Amino acid sequence: MSIKENVFPSHFAWGAATAAYQIEGAWNADGKGPSIWDTFCHGKGRVYENQNGDVACNSYDLWEEDLRCIQQLGLTHYRFSLSWSRLLPDGTTRHINQKGVSYYNRVINDLLASNVTPMVTLYHFDLPQALQDQGGWTSAHIADAFNSYAVFCFGTFGDRVKLWLTLNEPSVCAKLGHEDGLHAPGLRDPGAAAYLVGHNMLRAHAKAWHSYHALFRPEQRGLVSLALSSDWAEPLDPGSPEDAAAAERYMAFTFGWFASPVFMTGDYPAVMRSRIDARSRAQGFLSSRLPAFSEGEPSVLGTADFFALNYYTSRRARSASPPPGTLGLKSDQGAEGVLDPSWPVCGVSWLAVVPDGLRKLLKHIKDTCNNPAVYITENGFSQVGPVDLEDFRRCGFYRDTLLEVSEAIHEDGVDVRGYFAWSLLDNFEWADGFSVRFGLFHVDFEHPKLTRSMYRSGREYAKIIARNGFPSSAQS
Ligand code: NOJ
Repeated sequence: MSIKENVFPSHFAWGAATAAYQIEGAWNADGKGPSIWDTFCHGKGRVYENQNGDVACNSYDLWEEDLRCIQQLGLTHYRFSLSWSRLLPDGTTRHINQKGVSYYNRVINDLLASNVTPMVTLYHFDLPQALQDQGGWTSAHIADAFNSYAVFCFGTFGDRVKLWLTLNEPSVCAKLGHEDGLHAPGLRDPGAAAYLVGHNMLRAHAKAWHSYHALFRPEQRGLVSLALSSDWAEPLDPGSPEDAAAAERYMAFTFGWFASPVFMTGDYPAVMRSRIDARSRAQGFLSSRLPAFSEGEPSVLGTADFFALNYYTSRRARSASPPPGTLGLKSDQGAEGVLDPSWPVCGVSWLAVVPDGLRKLLKHIKDTCNNPAVYITENGFSQVGPVDLEDFRRCGFYRDTLLEVSEAIHEDGVDVRGYFAWSLLDNFEWADGFSVRFGLFHVDFEHPKLTRSMYRSGREYAKIIARNGFPSSAQS
């Protein structure tokens, strides 16, 4: 392995990722129960052009096409999620949908037969509607419901699945789904709901990790984590102490919110605790809007066997002083994230392309989370507008990003074990519907066969995988 050559460690995991609601379709087929995304999209005015994931890429029926895409890329790993309500239509183990079990058995078995290691996410934004009707993630009971579901999945698939993620991006689910109303279930309750949801997600994750550890790990020998998303934030003016403090707060409220309880201290970052407690008091709340971990519950600290990072973008942070009465995570944070004009923005407005932010964030994980093994479980580049299969900008993006990852490994000594491109296929990009494309394969959503065609970036990624990086001897 040579540093100069930017070759990756042997056994590096080369993957791509998807999520059930974004690709499967078959929203009510074969006994599947509705999820909150089915309900959310079937209401009007929530998603771009009122689109929905009823059909999406129809991966439920076209799995073999997806497998061919995986094979064409030469992936060693494939990350996908299970639809909770396809397996347990009302969210509970009282009723198991065998057709859902068969579908995922087929996916897992086909992957293994093709020498591709599955990484399975239990929850990627799609709560069974039946559980939402009982309060969803705002209810304390959800942690037990999630734990039962997780135990069911470990018991059913864990003989073959060795890499598990309990939750995908709890911060996004909490904030976009329960504070901003932009994601299902569409709640707009600024200030308290997101923290409550985040708290219950942490409790649910911890219970599931402990269940795995006690009941399944001795025999199955797998690893369990949760996928955390974070921007990398730096001070807008590097010379300004206010901006430096703002950047720290920005990182505490995005990265630290979940990384601190799980990897650092077992509790929320001190600055979150002090600011939210003080602001809650001043606003007349009887207790803090940020819940506290209770002694009687399984500990959250240490409930991850590796760090799973979804990284997309970076921000420059400056101090913001919203009026004391304003409710919301951003107001509590007291910091604003702005884009550096030198950063190109791809497709969607939030996605500034900052590959070196990933390297910095990886180093930050190493330094603050006790040098864990890291899988980059998502990273990608979106396109909007007219389709161009010759997506040169995305090719450059993957190259630049993977060179930064290589530097993180070789220069900074970060223990990066794998990289998953988001996404295998163009798919249903939540509130943006099908207008935003992240795939390594183009999907023709107008065509009844939902034809998959490889983008140039897919070919480039396949080349990088085949060479395990960028050996200097290789012809480009
Ligand atoms: C992260 C989410 O996990 C995924 O579902 C989404 O499509 C990508 N970000 C791109 O926005």
